[in-house]
Amino acid sequence: MRMMPISMCRPGMKLGKRIYADDGIVLLAEGVELTDSLIRRLGDKGISYLYIEDPRTEGVEMPEILSEETQRQALSCIRSVFRDLVDQPGKRHAGTYPYVGRSLRQVMHLVMEDLQRNRDAMIMLMNLHTVDHYLYMHSLNVCVYSVLLGMAYGYNSEELTTLGLGALLHDVGKTQISMQVLLKPGQLTDREYEEMKRHTERGFFLLKDEPNIPLIVAHCAYQHHERLNGSGYPRGLKGDEIHEYAKWIGIVDSYDAMTSHRVYRDAMLPHRAVETLYTGSGTLYDTSMLKLFRDKVAIYPLGITVKLNTGQTAVVVDINAASAHRPVVRVLTDEAGVDLKTPYDIDLSKQLSVMITKVETGRSDR
Ligand SMILES: [Fe+2]
Repeated sequence: MRMMPISMCRPGMKLGKRIYADDGIVLLAEGVELTDSLIRRLGDKGISYLYIEDPRTEGVEMPEILSEETQRQALSCIRSVFRDLVDQPGKRHAGTYPYVGRSLRQVMHLVMEDLQRNRDAMIMLMNLHTVDHYLYMHSLNVCVYSVLLGMAYGYNSEELTTLGLGALLHDVGKTQISMQVLLKPGQLTDREYEEMKRHTERGFFLLKDEPNIPLIVAHCAYQHHERLNGSGYPRGLKGDEIHEYAKWIGIVDSYDAMTSHRVYRDAMLPHRAVETLYTGSGTLYDTSMLKLFRDKVAIYPLGITVKLNTGQTAVVVDINAASAHRPVVRVLTDEAGVDLKTPYDIDLSKQLSVMITKVETGRSDR
């Protein structure tokens, strides 16, 4: 199985992994043969890469950080909580939603069980096989990435649950922002941007008096767009004024936004997103936190096609947890681009003279 930019998918190729619809049911099963119209429709739904069957990469399994069942249950819970809040603007007062904390704690329990079984898991793209509403998938991604980082950082399970809840709910204030602004395909006007920024305070006020939600969780919603040097919003907090959890969430929130496909731009690949985050090292983001984050990201996703400095084309077939920049690759072509009869593997963590020079994106810019 390999990961193919949708612009390079062709009719006749077979889907290597199932795709889920908004409500968690299977939209397309594995093995389905792609057609022109199917490829177009998936592209329209915001999918930038597809997993494709390829006998030369047989046996390469995409590890799931979360089990399918956990993902399904988590998304369905996030969806019902968020939809409920959208439907009740202005009706809220302290303790209106005691079930929100209760049901999201159950989600956290499932997520933590999966992650605890999988403590060495790397941060991998998880948004490739769903066409779900961006906000729900984003909330779950940010939660999983934050908890993985929190585990590596050494938080105990109570701290991890609070961090995870803060991550699940960091953007809950967006339920109070008008759909017109939230889903606008083009650039926001100054006024619309001001409204969008208010999702931080709105999230805080939605959460701060809920009985089953720690106050820190409300502060994660309030502070996740604050940046180290005071350039963030809404209050321009600096350094230690920003809670540590909100700093972790700020990093993974930016990362997930960059690596997700949005109406107004294509998804960035992990190595580009990490480079972009690094331009804010010490100014926007805490340098040591960023370093820990970088070490946990599977910078070259499994199944992606890369170009080597030898001129050969290869597919990433295994990730070296200790050295994410140097995965194991399977060489598929020679220097001239001619398919090899017998593909072979190179472990880049051992063969240091071989390097990845380019990642296949289906576009010419990256
Ligand atoms: Fe946000």
